[in-house]
Amino acid sequence: MPKDSVTITDNSTGKTIEIPIRRGTHGPAVMDVSGLYKNLGIFTYDPGFLSTASCESDITFIDGGKGVLLYRGYPIEQLAEHSSFLEVCYLLWYGALPTKDQFEKFRWIISHHTMVHEGLREFYSGFRRDAHPMAVMVGVVGALSAFYHDSLDIRDERSREISAHRLIAKMPTIAAWAYRYSRGEPLPYPRNNLGYAENFLHMMFSYPSEDYTIKPVTAKALDLIFLLHADHEQNASTSTVRLAGSSQANPFACVSAGVGTLWGPAHGGANEAVIKMLEQIEDVKNIDKYVAKAKDHNDPFRLMGFGHRVYKNYDPRAKIIRKACLEVLEELKVDDPLFEIAMRLEEIALKDEYFIEKKLYPNVDFYSGIIQRALRIPTSMFTVIFTIGRTIGWISQWGEMITEKVQRIGRPRQLYIGEAKRDYVPMDQR
Ligand code: SDX
Repeated sequence: MPKDSVTITDNSTGKTIEIPIRRGTHGPAVMDVSGLYKNLGIFTYDPGFLSTASCESDITFIDGGKGVLLYRGYPIEQLAEHSSFLEVCYLLWYGALPTKDQFEKFRWIISHHTMVHEGLREFYSGFRRDAHPMAVMVGVVGALSAFYHDSLDIRDERSREISAHRLIAKMPTIAAWAYRYSRGEPLPYPRNNLGYAENFLHMMFSYPSEDYTIKPVTAKALDLIFLLHADHEQNASTSTVRLAGSSQANPFACVSAGVGTLWGPAHGGANEAVIKMLEQIEDVKNIDKYVAKAKDHNDPFRLMGFGHRVYKNYDPRAKIIRKACLEVLEELKVDDPLFEIAMRLEEIALKDEYFIEKKLYPNVDFYSGIIQRALRIPTSMFTVIFTIGRTIGWISQWGEMITEKVQRIGRPRQLYIGEAKRDYVPMDQR
């Protein structure tokens, strides 16, 4: 049986070392290079981490070649069909599906953490009405640690659990208030008798002056969107949360760092960028022009919602959202011309040599904007919706990192290509 190792020889010195290989449950094995610098005096170099595993984890697994996504081993397709976002929150944090009693207790706890400190309401009046809601999210989520001092002890299991509960429960309240404040409307309080998605819709769209009826199809679709965005291995925002957590910062500060990272259009901001792109394309007859722009390396235009660092096949979440999109548009009798452009664009791109060769498929963001438009979620809130869903992933990955047996601060090195050492030159001699 060959040894589970690789041999590396530095040909410039002739020095050879053995690097151990570790194998997981699924997916590629890893070379443990933690001793490389000590034993060979050189660093690995992998900008963008294309070939780098930053940690070991038992939370989520993606097979990019096969379009597989598992939460704690359960396929996303089965969870999307049979589970709910709140049950997935339980699964991701505790590592197992809950019994009926466990779930009812968890649901009660979460619903009784949905209120936020009244001092946090005051924060909103300090923002400009036209601030992007993600700017508000970064600010208000980061401020949670200014109010909830009793759950900041990262070494205490109960504190970590309370912080997780608070983040899951309060994110919809904070998010909905960001939207309502931007419209100069009252900031509705959450209602404990409503489900998770229903409560968010109530805080987003209800008025104190009249009853608000929640359409089951709307709540179900929103719950599915939260579920599909819950976690995704070591994506950019999750890696940010882990790195922030490795300094032993409190969980609220770490999650607010994740919010900032998710905002970028290359990451969670892509769903908003997809709508802007479809509006820019404007008509099916313009698609070929934009596909050509996306293929032109001299043109910065990219097909937003296409491509993925890991999925080199169809993103399984995109498939599920696309199907839900068709159902929601039909049931709500919404005729969105952007959906027709999106489907036509997908059809053309999937047959185009460039996209086939580069394995560029629609990702979760490609259809999530369309379905959110059908649910009357404003475009500026799309990444905020992503934030609500991903909070459980961030805090579960943080919880895993902070309880590792060997927990070190993350501190990458570099390849220095700057000036060689030189002496200071007095100004009158320059
Ligand atoms: C999310 O990591 C995650 O898991 C993220 C996420 C999650 O749940 O957390 O799944 C959520 O962020 C989904 C991705 C949303 N972003 C977008 O849709 C933005 C558009 N996509 C691209 O910016 C890009 O595909 C990325 C950022 C998603 C992935 O970038 P990579 O892996 O670094 O790939 P790359 O930029 O090196 O592209 C490889 C090639 C390049 O061509 P070459 O230089 O090799 O000739 O493909 C091209 C790129 O130019 N390319 C595209 C393209 N995406 C990549 N060309 C046109 N349109 C695109 N969308």
